[in-house]
Amino acid sequence: MNSIGVFGLGVMGANLALNMANKGEKVAVYNYTPDLTEAFQEKHPHENTTAYYELTQFIHSLEKPRKIFLMVTAGAVVDSVINSLLPLLEQGDIIMDGGNSNFQDSNRRYGYLKEKGFHFIGVGVSGGEEGALNGPSLMPSGDKEAYQHVAPILEKIAAQVDGKPCCSYLGKEGSGHYVKMVHNGIEYADMQLITEAYQFLRERLGLNVDDIAAIFAEWNKGELESYLMEITADILTHVDEETKKPLVDVILDQSGQKGTGKWTSQNALDTGVPLSIITESVFMRFLSNVKEERMMAEQELAGPNQLADAADKGQWVELVRQALFMGKIITYAQGFYQYKQASEQYNWDLQLDEIALIFRGGCIIRAGILNEISKAFKEDKELSNLLLSPYFKTILNNYQASMRKVVIKGMETGLALPCFNASLVYYDGYRSAKSGANLIQAQRDYFGAHTYQRVDKEGHFHTEW
Ligand code: 6PG
Repeated sequence: MNSIGVFGLGVMGANLALNMANKGEKVAVYNYTPDLTEAFQEKHPHENTTAYYELTQFIHSLEKPRKIFLMVTAGAVVDSVINSLLPLLEQGDIIMDGGNSNFQDSNRRYGYLKEKGFHFIGVGVSGGEEGALNGPSLMPSGDKEAYQHVAPILEKIAAQVDGKPCCSYLGKEGSGHYVKMVHNGIEYADMQLITEAYQFLRERLGLNVDDIAAIFAEWNKGELESYLMEITADILTHVDEETKKPLVDVILDQSGQKGTGKWTSQNALDTGVPLSIITESVFMRFLSNVKEERMMAEQELAGPNQLADAADKGQWVELVRQALFMGKIITYAQGFYQYKQASEQYNWDLQLDEIALIFRGGCIIRAGILNEISKAFKEDKELSNLLLSPYFKTILNNYQASMRKVVIKGMETGLALPCFNASLVYYDGYRSAKSGANLIQAQRDYFGAHTYQRVDKEGHFHTEW
């Protein structure tokens, strides 16, 4: 008998199946169309995998309770695959969905399957192809009892950091896919922040790509250590074989997206979270896509477009490093605040320190900073905002002046640094005991009699303006 079945043999599904097989599991594999199953058998013959071309045989080959890991395209396909499986399953069988599914779909599927006596476990999977094969970060959620059945497999195939698997039960319903969604939002912001640092160094300090590759590699040895920093340093060393230019210079500056960053921002609006950095990074991807308009507008709209002062390049490089780290801290502060809000509003009991721990290995946003984030939330379970934790507060107090200099220089020289700006705006807004909302309340009351509260007495007041 096979201990688990993997349904869907695209690259991610195939690699996850091989990862399980490499860890000693007997894995049944199946794909909706036979071509990928044949390709899998041909390319990856493995003593622990058995390929099936018949759905019934695939299902009947599994130990009970059956564990089926779906790795199919997120969206309607997941529902139709689930419906094709149900007549073949028995009560208590477990369906896992490892795609980038929308958490609301996972909530719905969880309820739908529960009603029918089956278990649904949504599993956020991060780490791309390589992670799937050698150890991803896994974010499972659903019924805790059902999780106990799949925990030994999931925790074995996940990346391991300090002897701890980057996988743990996160909460009820679709909370695992929710955690993955915000992970992707943080991924978008992190990528945009690194890109802004790159643009500043390249377009305002006039450094060349090789210099920047070396600077990023150096930064990756310190507090900015992360997978995205590491791969960006490497990307910058690549040369296009045809033109002999840096490869990054021949790549069109329009970026794609599959939607998880956008969902994160949409959910921030629903949960009432100021998620400005991630949202700016989504907007910048949209703006990147109007290339022709941007080329035309460059000719039409006035503004400076100049190098920063050539003197003190080394000093500027350090200011940018500090600004980048500050932006990263504030991105995490906003993202983890969103987890906190979602946990309360959806009644999920998310453990923020645990989430930070499973992000330390395997996933795209893995970074040195996550140890400190985990520590901060572990030491203070009530911590509402990472900015107030002793460790991060000290860094922000030391680095905020650098962020200001970089942001001002960007504005002065006409370089758009939306995520750097958004970080600073949030920082200043958050540390302002006095906001401008008193005037907004007065305006609301003026035109709509919406009433306001006073600083000096209880109650709701209206003025005949
Ligand atoms: C991961 C990635 C992965 C994928 C994103 C990319 O954690 O392994 O986040 O899920 O690379 O979906 O998203 P975009 O195509 O939207 O940039």
